[in-house]
Amino acid sequence: MSAASGADPVGGAVFDAVSRRRSWSRVTDEAPTHEELLRLVSAAGRVADHSSLRPWRLIELRDDDRERLGRAINKADGEEGSSSKPLRAPLLIAVVASYRKSSKVPRWEQEAVASGVAHVLSLLLDDAGWGVIWRTGHYTRSKAVAKAHGLSKNEELLGWLYVGGKPESARPGRRQEIDATAVVSRMPHGRPSKAARKGAPENG
Ligand SMILES: Cc1cc2nc3c(=O)[nH]c(=O)nc-3n(C[C@H](O)[C@H](O)[C@H](O)COP(=O)(O)O)c2cc1C
Repeated sequence: MSAASGADPVGGAVFDAVSRRRSWSRVTDEAPTHEELLRLVSAAGRVADHSSLRPWRLIELRDDDRERLGRAINKADGEEGSSSKPLRAPLLIAVVASYRKSSKVPRWEQEAVASGVAHVLSLLLDDAGWGVIWRTGHYTRSKAVAKAHGLSKNEELLGWLYVGGKPESARPGRRQEIDATAVVSRMPHGRPSKAARKGAPENG
């Protein structure tokens, strides 16, 4: 569909998927298979990536991996035993920013790419029928947690996508409406162009 075709230039499958997506804090024990995940990651990895540095990777945590993370969380907190937090979903996907040496692309841009992958992957998982919530915690960038994930010196965690089945009994999520007029503006002091003042869409 193109804007020129006469169909609604804004609506579409992606628009609908984004509008429907919500976070699922409680999920069932079902999870996508490794192979299903790989397909979704291949698509999510198509986000815009300045200089194609691919400054990210993902770590799949299933089964006992989640207990190892639980132990690392407790260690970061100076406590014995294992936190049960990672057991809230059958699959956790750790999102890692892997910063590359670049004179052109600073770290914040590379982090933006890794974050984009996580958002798009969340959306794809949700659209494929899985419940997802991106979780972090004060321990996210602790030494113990980095060690448990085998991170290198040039890597930092952005948190975990907790993934599982969407419970049938779940109530519809309450999504916050976004008032676009409150977040879209023009530059300060910028006088709107003649076209904008007339209400016509502007090109480029
Ligand atoms: C970087 C990041 C970190 C997040 N960390 C947490 C978290 O630690 N705990 C949590 O409940 N939700 C976390 N969330 C999910 C947001 O809280 C959630 O998106 C928000 O509540 C809005 O809900 P919605 O996604 O259904 O619109 C995080 C989201 C992002 C992007």
